[in-house]
Amino acid sequence: MNTTLNIGLAGLGTVGGGLVRLLSENAEEIRARSGCDFNLKAVAVRNPNRKRDLPEGVRLTTDPMTLADDPDIDVVIELMGGIDTAKELITRSLAKGKQVVTANKALLAEEGESLFRLADEKGATLLYEASVAGGIPILRTIVNSFAADNILEVKGIVNGTTNYILTQMNQKHWTYEEALKKAQELGFAEADPTNDVTGKDAAYKMIILSYFAFGTQLKIDDFKTEGIDTLNAYDVSQAESLGYVIKLVGSAKVINGGVFVDVAPTLVPEDHPLATINNEFNAVMVTGKAVGDTLFYGPGAGGLPTANSVLSDITSEVKNLIMGTSGHAFNTYQNEYVPADPDNVRYPYYLSLTMPDVSGQMLKFTRIMADIKASFSQIVQAPIKDEGIAHVAVITHELSQSQLAELKKQLQQADSIKLNAAYKVLEN
Ligand code: HSE
Repeated sequence: MNTTLNIGLAGLGTVGGGLVRLLSENAEEIRARSGCDFNLKAVAVRNPNRKRDLPEGVRLTTDPMTLADDPDIDVVIELMGGIDTAKELITRSLAKGKQVVTANKALLAEEGESLFRLADEKGATLLYEASVAGGIPILRTIVNSFAADNILEVKGIVNGTTNYILTQMNQKHWTYEEALKKAQELGFAEADPTNDVTGKDAAYKMIILSYFAFGTQLKIDDFKTEGIDTLNAYDVSQAESLGYVIKLVGSAKVINGGVFVDVAPTLVPEDHPLATINNEFNAVMVTGKAVGDTLFYGPGAGGLPTANSVLSDITSEVKNLIMGTSGHAFNTYQNEYVPADPDNVRYPYYLSLTMPDVSGQMLKFTRIMADIKASFSQIVQAPIKDEGIAHVAVITHELSQSQLAELKKQLQQADSIKLNAAYKVLEN
């Protein structure tokens, strides 16, 4: 019986470096718990001249495909990121029947369907716990611990960079630009943070979470993604004075037999569990029909936390690998995606408007609201100093997606009233 697993690692960045460290520091723990030695056999890097802190005997290469082609390598770990080369490596490794572990959420969200099919055809295993919420063991928890329940909703804070920015805007009253600059200085935000701040990174994670919770294979254009790059400090402080914290929330929910998914800045009541998730931390709330609300909290990124999730994919498969019985899909729950009817998707909304501070404007606005049968829950008006303009912030009672679309249309036609933001409001 083979009790040594040979590992080939592609990518030696933050997570790859954390993985090398865990493999060496926790070698005894891994052996004791899994009954197996994890031997790092080869590492593929882009720049072979950079000084690396690798254990003796590890082969360094600049060609990741040699990992797939090496018959002694049992498991290929892809931590390079990007799409094309990562896809080629994973495809080639699966084709050779190897177990593949990746944290590449963009690749899984965009090309997952074909990779899952290939793994199935080749009797290979493709695992990716680290692709969602870094160190939080959420995917395997959904597979194993919610199999007997009926999941109604998965929602959460699944991007650490934006949560750090929002926490600083909320607690220190910084502008978005100031908070982003600080996040970059501290290394939370990438030099190019576009995917984080536009919500795309969170959207990729929601595609994977929806797949596990509801079996649906969504495309990024199937749902609305709004980031925090257009959020302004006024709305953050207005939300605070109304008793809410603005968070970038990804949500996937079953509504009357359809699935509604979105990623957007959302007003969270200050005593809601998600309001307490601060800085670069993530949290995923899974609501099951039987179990009710459950919350999983932890670091959403970082070398060691994410590396632990990567290694959990291998330890959970060890017995199958040793017995030669690998080849089970990570998630076997499949359903056709039926989008929820926009008339049935109902939330209260926070509306942030500006209008000339003159008689008749508020009447014009309330007429539009009455016309679409929307009703007010809270309303605050404040003049913008010396500009003759008023800021109006509203929390509505529940509005359907169809009513919201009509409201936006009518406000666009009413040229003096500008709708600056319309954010969902969560309820306790
Ligand atoms: N850039 C991501 C975040 C981490 O800020 O949460 C990797 O998914």
